Amino acid sequence: MSALKLIETARNEFLAELEDVGEDLNQIENFRSTYLGRKGKVASLFSLMGNASNEDRPALGNSLNKLKNDLTTLFENKLAEINSSKQKAQDDSIDLSLPSKQRRLGSIHILEQTLSEIKEIYQSIGFHVAYGPEVDDDYHNFTALNIPEHHPARDMQDTFFIDPETVLRTHTSNVQVHLMEEQDPPLRYIVPGKVYRNEAIGYKSYCLFHQVEGIYINERVSFGELKGCLEFFVKQMFGRKKNMRFRPSYFPFTEPSAEVDIWDEERKKWMEILGCGMVDPAVLENVGYDPSRFHGYAFGMGVERIAMLKYKINDIRHFYSGDVRFMEQFV
Ligand code: DAH
Repeated sequence: MSALKLIETARNEFLAELEDVGEDLNQIENFRSTYLGRKGKVASLFSLMGNASNEDRPALGNSLNKLKNDLTTLFENKLAEINSSKQKAQDDSIDLSLPSKQRRLGSIHILEQTLSEIKEIYQSIGFHVAYGPEVDDDYHNFTALNIPEHHPARDMQDTFFIDPETVLRTHTSNVQVHLMEEQDPPLRYIVPGKVYRNEAIGYKSYCLFHQVEGIYINERVSFGELKGCLEFFVKQMFGRKKNMRFRPSYFPFTEPSAEVDIWDEERKKWMEILGCGMVDPAVLENVGYDPSRFHGYAFGMGVERIAMLKYKINDIRHFYSGDVRFMEQFV
């Protein structure tokens, strides 16, 4: 075969194979070295120069140089083409029409919102906010509150005992005792917090719930003031039109004692939201106050029940389910 023919054949083979070169980096490098490498087909064609006659040699040289330049240019163009199509594939993988990820914003739990409302109402009439221990000794939870060891009132609140002397508090009333032990009257506090009861679970009772305790001690305190304070609270919390009633009751730590019920529109019946009364002189004596000089009232309200009535929540267990669908209703 003549030298020119060999050059032509090499060019055609190169063009045919170039078509099939894909994106694979090894394949690209193999192809390059097969044709344009130091020991490639183009380089070996240059050895034809040695056999050419003096008169053919310049033309053959020109053809070989042209072949080398052409193939180099074609190969470089092909590389550029491959790179740009890779880039385009990457760009196409960004689908601008896809809906964006939904960002959920956290919100304050409805119980915490209710607690804040309660705190604000009492702070507006001069109550301070205090907190106390959730794990407490039997004395502060029961005995100091005039509930002796075998008193039937201890059965009213089935208790979680940590050990025979230590309990998960069954009410926030334990903090009344701590506050009065630590301070002299006058004293006016509300105490929000968690309480625990080992009782049957139902739509309005759970083993854990929140209370806000209230205590006011001074030289002259009347039951009328207690009523006025709680009526004010109910009006602020539920609006002027909400039906409420005081009902006589019994607590070992108050005398007289009462409970407040709120009309439950959903169930068409009364729901108890708090207990209250005039602090029993025995409790005042237990903390070292002089009961002939100081009087006071106290109350303890259930936060879940207040939230249930206000926001029409039909089961106390919703507060603890962690169900986002529930919580999102109160953002
Ligand atoms: N501790 C009572 C309970 O958990 C509620 C209560 C009643 C609190 C009367 C008081 C009070 O401070 O005076 O059922």
